Amino acid sequence: MFIAGAGGLGCPVALNLTTAGIGNIRICDTDIVDISNLNRQFLHPEKSIGVEKPVSAIEISQIMQYANQYSIPVTPIGALTGLSGGALAIHEGIGLSMERMNQILKIDEQNMQVITQPAVITEELQNAVAAKGLYYAPDPASRGTCSIGGNLAENSGGPRAVKYGVTKDFVLNLEVVLPTGEIINTGANTLKNSTGYNLTQLMVGSEGTLGIITKAVLKLLPLPKHNLLMLVPFQSPTKACEAVAAIFNAGITPSAMEFMERDAIDWTMGFVDNPPNINLKDEHQAHLLIEVDGNDIESLYKDCEVISEVVLKYNADEVLFADSEAQKEALWFLRRRVGEAVKANSVYKEEDTVVPRYELPKLLEGVKKIGDKYGFTSVCYGHAGDGNLHINIIKGNLSDAAWKNELPKGIREIFELTVSLGGTISGEHGIGYVQKDYMDIAFSEVELNLMRSIKQLFDPNEVLNPGKIF
Ligand code: LAC
Ligand code: ZN
Repeated sequence: MFIAGAGGLGCPVALNLTTAGIGNIRICDTDIVDISNLNRQFLHPEKSIGVEKPVSAIEISQIMQYANQYSIPVTPIGALTGLSGGALAIHEGIGLSMERMNQILKIDEQNMQVITQPAVITEELQNAVAAKGLYYAPDPASRGTCSIGGNLAENSGGPRAVKYGVTKDFVLNLEVVLPTGEIINTGANTLKNSTGYNLTQLMVGSEGTLGIITKAVLKLLPLPKHNLLMLVPFQSPTKACEAVAAIFNAGITPSAMEFMERDAIDWTMGFVDNPPNINLKDEHQAHLLIEVDGNDIESLYKDCEVISEVVLKYNADEVLFADSEAQKEALWFLRRRVGEAVKANSVYKEEDTVVPRYELPKLLEGVKKIGDKYGFTSVCYGHAGDGNLHINIIKGNLSDAAWKNELPKGIREIFELTVSLGGTISGEHGIGYVQKDYMDIAFSEVELNLMRSIKQLFDPNEVLNPGKIF
């Protein structure tokens, strides 16, 4: 089960920040070696390096007890789609790949719950419950490749969060292996729970620093029978953002309300095979992709009429209604690939800001001004209904020196603006490794110390995912 490192078994650099890109760990592909065959003394912390692929909570418990005893860092690894470097093994030690814990254990139709292991791919879980008329709503853009465990670790969101909530809103109970090796359950399989501190919600979003989730009980909803999707072009990105709060204030709660700047659409149209047929005019500088869902199709048409009336006040051009499932699919495919298209286009850095939704226009305009000051361009898109703006900062012609030395100051200003608007520095991607230098913008020293104390309580020897969040 264990691959030893330099001078021992296996490959010399299994997990190493310098050889791994952010969100892209190179994992040693040497055969897994049974830990029982190894002399434990050989696994000196400073030399050991490798990947474990456990199949049960009990195995993880044994690994954690061992790691805790010998102070070996353990980095949990999900599906490697994260955007904050949470799965980067920045210290030598054990990479704990959850990939073999990939079973849906039970779909409880009567209670509308699913019990699952962490490595189940989010979309596969959604499809499995949909086959029984049930709905698991959280749908990160990477839902085809990300896993439930990663979603729990980062408290992922996605487009449908605007109506249904994020991952945390669907979690009832968790089985967790603590850094010290004990196996606990955090709650009960109930919709309500006022019994003691809420360990379940403490675990969700803790980015693999407080425990390793080995089983999750998730709440399900009835699958909505219908949805309608519309793509709304705007001349002004700011006006598009202004329309967002106005739609909610008109009494509509869309099931998705996504914003894309022109470059986001253009780059993605050039990136995907068979892009959708959209009548893009030069003046269309931003789009809202808006979905409504429910069981009564007539009321959904009425919702779309209200939305159409509202967006007109913000100088929207002609609205495109998706008139087939294939067209809906193509539009969603386009939206979900924006992040990858940007990544393919340029060296970039993605920030995951979130503000109360009415403040979104101020955030967008502020980001552009900060970009002008520091000489960078940005491509913005994201979950506008949640006020969650993904800001892709493009390296473009920026010098390496400016990228390295000046950009962090610009990012700091973006985050300060975000917080001054009542927002915070990550809505759904987490802090992980890449945002931790900015945590002081979101939290005071007292608040950060409270969090550090929690970490210390759970993980006194700092073996589980050290160097993340703080
Ligand atoms: C998205 C990812 C980047 O919304 O969160 O596309
Ligand atoms: Zn997103």
